[in-house]
Amino acid sequence: GLAAPVAGSLVSCGDAPGQTGRILRSAARLPKAYTTPLPLPPVKRPASGLISIEQRSASVEILPGLRTEMMTYDGVFPGPTLETRRGETVTVRHTNSLTLPTATHLHGGHTPAESDGWPTDLLVPPGFEARHAGHGAGHTGGHGGGHGGDHETMDDPKAQVRTGKRDYRYPLDQPATTLWYHDHRMDFTAPQVWRGLAGFHIVRDDEEDALSLPRGEREIPLMIADRAFDEDGALRYPALDPELLGQPGVEDRYMAGVLGDVILVNGAPWPEAEIEAAQYRLRLLNASNARRYTLRLRTDSGTPVRFTQIGSDGGLLAAPVEHDEITMASGERFDVVVDFRSLPPGTTVEMRNGLGTGRTAQVMRFRITRRATDDVRLPERLADVPEPEKPDGAVVRRWHFRKASVHGRRGWGINGKPFDPAVPQAQVPLGSTEIWEFFTDAHHPVHVHLSPFQVLRRGNHGPGPMDLGWKDTVDVRPYEAVRVRVRFEKYAGRFLIHCHNLEHEDMAMMAGFETV
Ligand code: C2O
Ligand code: CU
Repeated sequence: GLAAPVAGSLVSCGDAPGQTGRILRSAARLPKAYTTPLPLPPVKRPASGLISIEQRSASVEILPGLRTEMMTYDGVFPGPTLETRRGETVTVRHTNSLTLPTATHLHGGHTPAESDGWPTDLLVPPGFEARHAGHGAGHTGGHGGGHGGDHETMDDPKAQVRTGKRDYRYPLDQPATTLWYHDHRMDFTAPQVWRGLAGFHIVRDDEEDALSLPRGEREIPLMIADRAFDEDGALRYPALDPELLGQPGVEDRYMAGVLGDVILVNGAPWPEAEIEAAQYRLRLLNASNARRYTLRLRTDSGTPVRFTQIGSDGGLLAAPVEHDEITMASGERFDVVVDFRSLPPGTTVEMRNGLGTGRTAQVMRFRITRRATDDVRLPERLADVPEPEKPDGAVVRRWHFRKASVHGRRGWGINGKPFDPAVPQAQVPLGSTEIWEFFTDAHHPVHVHLSPFQVLRRGNHGPGPMDLGWKDTVDVRPYEAVRVRVRFEKYAGRFLIHCHNLEHEDMAMMAGFETV
């Protein structure tokens, strides 16, 4: 059965404007900030084109001295960092040894439909179907699941359910960049990602290798994600009590998304990274369910340190761009270089979150341990990125993100409709370039599968400072229509557009589109 709702631990979030949602408070003893070393996920590269991953439950130490039972890729959180090269087709063979179905999506991958992790293309553990026959995809048991339950999973005539193992094939015909992989199971993405199903996938290529950029130990992926913990270290996630379903107010717990009070970086609470006085490339990923961050750096004497952005979701920018702060919504990546060269050993540099308060305003800290040589000279030109010009006569497609009724309950939809896996909302001819316009009266990070896009306009202005380069996720803000230019080259099939606030996604703010 489902655990009792944890209403007592939910309080309204009074954080800065731009951050809404309920904070789930931890009952566990939390470590002091910057006392845990920053971990790096293990790296996996393909051998003869194959990478194997076992999805399994594992007990992971996140809070010092406590064990957290998680759903993992290969027993670790974050999952292993996959490192691949452009143009080399890689098969990732996932084995499901969990107790629940999964669907694995490579976020930002230019991936054929059958490997894209469509929410009803499930990988179920052996024995699952028999045990749960007639119950659709089943519920998540103790932790409570998504909002919608299992009503539609089996209503998709094209759903492909596989048992035990599944090969996902990635042609990786795309520029070097930071991708990530995570669960995408219909109605259960939020709880299953919260419980651990997320990892980096880094694509490299010769063009990027030829540039003078920090590498090796000076290239650090940083997965930022908030969570909340029970006294014994178990993850907290609000459960839906079937008794309460349908009563007014229950959905309110989910409507804005779920926020934790613990900020994890690479799975460690408020960690500290020991570094040299050198330039570092930081691959920033917001893997939180619903939390947005405005990241800023400052030294212990209060001096701000800037970010030099070199890349976005889909690859390198044309040229480096300086920022005082980086605002990132769920799903977005920012590839930045930070110059620590002038800082004497012993200096600490704190990364703070301007959209948090108290402990959620803290993220991580860097500690300069020693001087070092550094030959990196950031190039003035990084990559060929065309100016995003509006193509004449392009189709303009509007996607309105707003509340919708989902099977009689409060939820979210697109163009008034909750997600229906059997009915795509658009047909897009392959080879076409379209203008897509996203509009909302709230905050929604909008993510498009298959093809990256360039932002043309935000509200009445051009692209904002966080909209540069090739994006696959864009932070859409209230009453500020965002127009993007997106080209669909290949693959034919069904793909998704959705809100990357994962509770919104599970509450049906998702639509299929079909490329033909
Ligand atoms: Cu990162 Cu469709 O998701
Ligand atoms: Cu949303």
